[in-house]
Amino acid sequence: MTQEKPNILYLGSEPTPGMINRLQHAVNVHHIPDPSQNTHQLENIAASIKGLVTSASVGVSNDLLHQLPKLEIISSFGVGLDALDLDYLKAQGIHLGYTPNVLNDCVADLTLGLILDITRRISQSDRYVREGKWAAAAAPLRTQSSKKRLGLYGMGRIGQEIAQRASAFKMPIAYHTRTPNSSLPYLHLDSLEKLAGWSDILVVIVPATSSTRQSINRHILKTLGENGYLINIARGSVINEADLLNALEQGILAGAGLDVFHNEPNIDPRFYELENVVLSPHAGSATHETRQAMGDLTVNNLLNYFQSGSLIASYFES
Ligand code: DGY
Repeated sequence: MTQEKPNILYLGSEPTPGMINRLQHAVNVHHIPDPSQNTHQLENIAASIKGLVTSASVGVSNDLLHQLPKLEIISSFGVGLDALDLDYLKAQGIHLGYTPNVLNDCVADLTLGLILDITRRISQSDRYVREGKWAAAAAPLRTQSSKKRLGLYGMGRIGQEIAQRASAFKMPIAYHTRTPNSSLPYLHLDSLEKLAGWSDILVVIVPATSSTRQSINRHILKTLGENGYLINIARGSVINEADLLNALEQGILAGAGLDVFHNEPNIDPRFYELENVVLSPHAGSATHETRQAMGDLTVNNLLNYFQSGSLIASYFES
């Protein structure tokens, strides 16, 4: 007797080519990039959908989830799970696959890149040379990157990779998390405010949750101070962006390196006017190697579940 292939809903576009092709061998893929724009197509298949593939940026709306009574598993491309209602998924017993670890190196690499860039003003110096200003006047002196105190707001898998790299730059390291990790050789501070006061460079690498939302506000930025730098490689929602823009414009902060924003990709145009900020297009994991590994894990999480009942990287069971 041949077993029927499960029906899968695939949201968004393919983040790496070939994912849908690989899935098609074992499951029936219904690719509906945006179901809110295609309600008719969804209506015909919703009752039979057992699996769903999405990404950290696309997520799944609750409205859609409520239309999928047989849903057993979501496989999400990425580590950020803020576009999913985790409480609902857990309560319904829906499995959740994601792609931890495979992106740690690339996200940590870019974090160090942003630190080096904003302190030494690499992007700004590039503009200086291209605009023909060098022959007229030597470029201004910049700020040393190595030996600066690096504060990590969050100390998960990626935070630990950042700390290792920063140690090679002779940076003293402290971090703030709710619970200290006694296996780590770094200073734990029990509040974000204390961490901001201690740091020359504050790196945001916490998950976006209701308790971290807008936690980097004017008070924290003032505490970091006029010689301080902020790096955000997590999510725009962790920062009060109006406060950050004001702080950068008013010199309350020395500078910022930002990979994430509130309204991506249509970010606040006030950022474009600022020389003391380096802007990156949410590209922490955006290398050929890492995106391929993330695509493979997304596919394998789903296929493994339907073949053996278990996921390779499961959020709730990890
Ligand atoms: C993630 O995995 O959450 C990255 O930020 C990509 O969205």
